[in-house]
Amino acid sequence: MAPRKIIIDTDPGQDDAVAILLALASPEEIQVLGITAVAGNVPLRLTARNARMVCELAGRTDVPVYAGCDRPLGRELVTAEHVHGKTGLDGPDLPEPTMPLQETHAVDFIIDSLRREAPGTVTLCPLGPLTNIAMAFEKAPDIMARVAEIVLMGGAYFEVGNITPAAEFNIYVDPQAAHIVFKSGCKITVMPLDVTHKALVTTPRNDAFRALGTPVGIAVAEMTDFFERFDKEKYGSAGAPLHDPCVTAYLIRPDLFTGRFINVEIETHSELTMGMTVADWWRVSGRAPNATFMGDVDADGFFALLTERLARL
Ligand code: RIB
Ligand code: CA
Repeated sequence: MAPRKIIIDTDPGQDDAVAILLALASPEEIQVLGITAVAGNVPLRLTARNARMVCELAGRTDVPVYAGCDRPLGRELVTAEHVHGKTGLDGPDLPEPTMPLQETHAVDFIIDSLRREAPGTVTLCPLGPLTNIAMAFEKAPDIMARVAEIVLMGGAYFEVGNITPAAEFNIYVDPQAAHIVFKSGCKITVMPLDVTHKALVTTPRNDAFRALGTPVGIAVAEMTDFFERFDKEKYGSAGAPLHDPCVTAYLIRPDLFTGRFINVEIETHSELTMGMTVADWWRVSGRAPNATFMGDVDADGFFALLTERLARL
């Protein structure tokens, strides 16, 4: 079976970095057409820098990296240095990137790719705020029908919010963009906190990364050593939640995940619940389903896959 063509839209972010590494380590299943950076965890200048650093760590300077939107559609940018550190990729000591940033704007790369590739063959994998995706849909509505699937990390239902009591970070940063994406009619698969908070890098799991003994394995262990402190302190969790790698793991092993095809709406009016994913898990609203909202993951299977694939780089 031919590998799935994907565009990774990302705001690295240690967990974004692991998601990108997993994708680049899996050429049988995934062909990365390009990586588009968006403002989110840290400002765009840094997410565009970090995405290239990850490609160089993986030895994949052939993968084009594009800079996209530097602020949400209709709100001030909210960043997460308190989680990811001032660079967004604190933890390992990685060299500054030498590979170039592409001249084309990320939004135009998304549009051009979807118009160039055969309809239904490109999957969009947003790992941060949905600003680039929404801008592409607004600028070129014709591309929405050409998207194979959107597999995104964002939102929460039973887990409620991680940046406000009601909202998960990626959706909260740009709720207007999320609304555009969830109304697009595209096939959407959502990896919410309900799933990603079950993908925790416990000490034995992080020891397995470090035991790979490779620059990638050691860097990933150092990323999670840094990244875990926020969630351990806030939730008392057993390790860093690997939010974004759930997206790329789903592309390789969808059987690791279970969820429901339900209606998901985005709060875009009330500041109290701004960015909340109103997920109709119990199907009480009568609103038409528009997304597969994941609720569980085989965590041991997820980490076995991740460790085996990272060992390849
Ligand atoms: O809420 C978790 C999400 O926000 C992850 O994608 C993380 O990288 C941050 O972008
Ligand atoms: Ca992210």
